[in-house]
Amino acid sequence: MKQSVSMLLLSLSLGILLVVDIMLFAALGIPSPIPWIVLAAIIAIPYISSRMEKRRFVSWDDGYSVGIEAIDNDHRKLLNLINNLQAAVHYHTGTDFENQALNELIDYTVFHFDREEGLMQKHGFPGFEAHRQIHEAMIAKVQGFVEEYQQQGADALEKLAEYLKAWLVNHINGTDQEYGPYLRSKGEK
Ligand SMILES: [Fe+2]
Ligand SMILES: [Fe+2]
Repeated sequence: MKQSVSMLLLSLSLGILLVVDIMLFAALGIPSPIPWIVLAAIIAIPYISSRMEKRRFVSWDDGYSVGIEAIDNDHRKLLNLINNLQAAVHYHTGTDFENQALNELIDYTVFHFDREEGLMQKHGFPGFEAHRQIHEAMIAKVQGFVEEYQQQGADALEKLAEYLKAWLVNHINGTDQEYGPYLRSKGEK
């Protein structure tokens, strides 16, 4: 749903609730708890809505660090690109911006996978092949989503953006942590 439409619906619902609440106050009187409960809900709804909005975006956490500067910088950049894509999708900035944000994220992901795999291979990391296969499976899955997006448009892009966000954050915070100590022991920093 378009952001402007959902904001309008939210304002409209809050307006209706406010009118209903005034009528409840008039009918039940100030001592009744029911109009006060409804009033608390009217105040809480915009707060909950803005909290949900913030959860859409991701930010760097020092716990994500693998202790290798070039990789950490790549991961920071990927998080920024994820946020750009989330913003483009959520605020419906138009097909050109959405495609640009999507392509930048996918291109940088592929570039970053190459860098990681190069380092793992160079130092003979024992988990290299398994890690490479995880990267490969992700790229194949994303390609499937991209085809779906090309056929179905906006809804599929939202699904794709969510998948990329969840996958990359999980991977940075999980599988990528496994090679950190090994590569650092080989002098990478
Ligand atoms: Fe990575
Ligand atoms: Fe990785």
